[in-house]
Amino acid sequence: MGDISIQIGPVRFKNPVFIASGICGYAEEYSPLVNLSRLGGVVTKTITMLPRAGNLPPRIHEMPHGMLNSIGLENVGLDRYVNEKLPQLNQRPDVGVMVSVAAETEDEFIKLAERFAPMDGYAGLELNLSCPNVKGEALDQGRNPQLVEKISRIVKERIPKKSLWIKVTPNITDVGTVARAAEQGGADAIAAVNTLVGIDFDLETGKPVFARGSAGYSGPAILPIALQKVWECAKAVSIPIVGIGGIATIDDARKFFLAGATAIQVGTSLYNDPGLPERIVDALAENPEWMRARARASASPAA
Ligand code: FUM
Repeated sequence: MGDISIQIGPVRFKNPVFIASGICGYAEEYSPLVNLSRLGGVVTKTITMLPRAGNLPPRIHEMPHGMLNSIGLENVGLDRYVNEKLPQLNQRPDVGVMVSVAAETEDEFIKLAERFAPMDGYAGLELNLSCPNVKGEALDQGRNPQLVEKISRIVKERIPKKSLWIKVTPNITDVGTVARAAEQGGADAIAAVNTLVGIDFDLETGKPVFARGSAGYSGPAILPIALQKVWECAKAVSIPIVGIGGIATIDDARKFFLAGATAIQVGTSLYNDPGLPERIVDALAENPEWMRARARASASPAA
């Protein structure tokens, strides 16, 4: 097995395969099924300063080619994450942890970053500027390039030795502009993309399935859209791109490298194929030159 480690900002990850945020909480549900230490890392469920109860049920709705979700950023909040969830994850040696965070204001982002700044046990922060299931906040931030640049800067200044990823929305005409803003703000990578806004209706009630109406759509159906957005980001920035969206096979993952990604995250497919990320690692490691020849320069082996 060859070296497929990658560099994203100041952090070296053992390989380019990550678990996307939101699918398996803080990894406790997933860790019995998979050797997390074999992956590049796990992006944990987005946390906020205070705990959130999330949206009214139903929150998940399966469709023929994907899934709608409307979780509403339910999470345990910063304190419990730092005191319980992260230490639990850190008991497993060698698991790369990226912490997904969201905040309503710049001041909250500063507070979150300052709390994480002196800490060990994590590789970096992924800023969720793209959740479609909460009022105002995250999705709107991610549609405003000036704000994306500012938030990236105020967080990166406080965690210079950690990796900072900005998770961008596909629900925008020009994702490249937002990616460029994140790069200008000092982000180390663009995580592209979050879910697409979608809706489904209940024919019996005549109403939307979800209380909020629209929700976030993920799964195999969004693969070509996610590839397109990664491709657009790759043309707009020189920092690494972490490709996310619809990966259900090893070949799907390979396509993200062709589109310009340096790393990938597997999300919705974990529900029916928890072993997929490990198989992607194995496939890439069997032929490291393939990834290296196609991924961007940041994927070069460690010196
Ligand atoms: O509803 C949710 O918690 C989804 C979050 C996201 O897509 O970022």
